Amino acid sequence: MAYRADMASSAPLGSIASRARAWRDSAHLEICDALEPWAYGTVRRATRYPGYFDFNSVLVEQDPAMSIDDLVDFADQALVGLAHRRIDFDVVAAAERYRPGFEALGWKVMRLLWMRHETPPPPGPDLAVEQVAYGAVYDLRVAWHREDFPTEDFGAHYPDAREVALRRGARVLAVREADRPIAFAQIERDAQNTEIMQVYVHPDYRGGGRGTAMTRAAIVASPDAQDLWIVADDEGRPKQLYARLGFRPAWTTIEFLRLPGTPVRTAPGPERPTRPR
Ligand SMILES: CC(C)(COP(=O)(O)OP(=O)(O)OC[C@H]1O[C@@H](n2cnc3c(N)ncnc32)[C@H](O)[C@@H]1OP(=O)(O)O)[C@@H](O)C(=O)NCCC(=O)NCCS
Repeated sequence: MAYRADMASSAPLGSIASRARAWRDSAHLEICDALEPWAYGTVRRATRYPGYFDFNSVLVEQDPAMSIDDLVDFADQALVGLAHRRIDFDVVAAAERYRPGFEALGWKVMRLLWMRHETPPPPGPDLAVEQVAYGAVYDLRVAWHREDFPTEDFGAHYPDAREVALRRGARVLAVREADRPIAFAQIERDAQNTEIMQVYVHPDYRGGGRGTAMTRAAIVASPDAQDLWIVADDEGRPKQLYARLGFRPAWTTIEFLRLPGTPVRTAPGPERPTRPR
């Protein structure tokens, strides 16, 4: 197989990061029906999927010269009518400055590491991995959603998640145990890019190599991608698993999310992180 590491080794990191961003943006272009520039980025909305956080957000592409209160006020206006608030920073240094303030307001913070596959995975035990229908791993999707969002109703999100995934040509791989799926991975692609969007192993089966086997199977199932991406929590453990399988850091972003139902607080006065105008 002609390996994509050859292309990566000569490409400066900046260009790989911009390809990761272009891939992220292509999904937004396909799913969002309203893309409005604002002073420091773009407001992205998908009016058909109002509860889909990823596609209804304020994107910050340049360091915003504003206080956290002004930023939250702007998000309140831009995302009016939605139950959540989401602000995504492409500029990580600026986001880290705001982070303590958002945490104090009860927002969830996720620092994401975009990783590109560059070297072949080492050999490992093969598990029987099969391609299945999107709905075949419904119970695992519910379980994952409960882990991440214990207070959110997955039933309400499922039809939107399914429709978006099928619009994006998602393929689902799964591992069974006693005829029941206990792990899955989801892959989306276009002509040049492939992304392993999701990797999940049921909690009762973790630590036994299934996550590694699932991810390896997803890599093997994507042999002709120019860029193969996976996005990890930059502060979590799975990025080490992905690194062992040949993924390398390409780009970092930060998401701030106020879940529906989170009490709205205002930033405390003197300590609130502000930036001189
Ligand atoms: C990440 C995940 C798929 C790993 O599955 P797994 O079957 O436990 O993985 P393996 O047994 O093949 O490998 C274990 C490695 O996975 C990583 N890992 C991440 N979370 C883990 C967890 N809760 N338990 C065990 N390993 C975990 C570690 O890197 C670990 O290696 P280490 O022992 O050196 O730290 C699984 O923990 C999971 O489904 N987590 C919740 C969903 C998730 O975070 N998915 C990744 C999105 S980026």
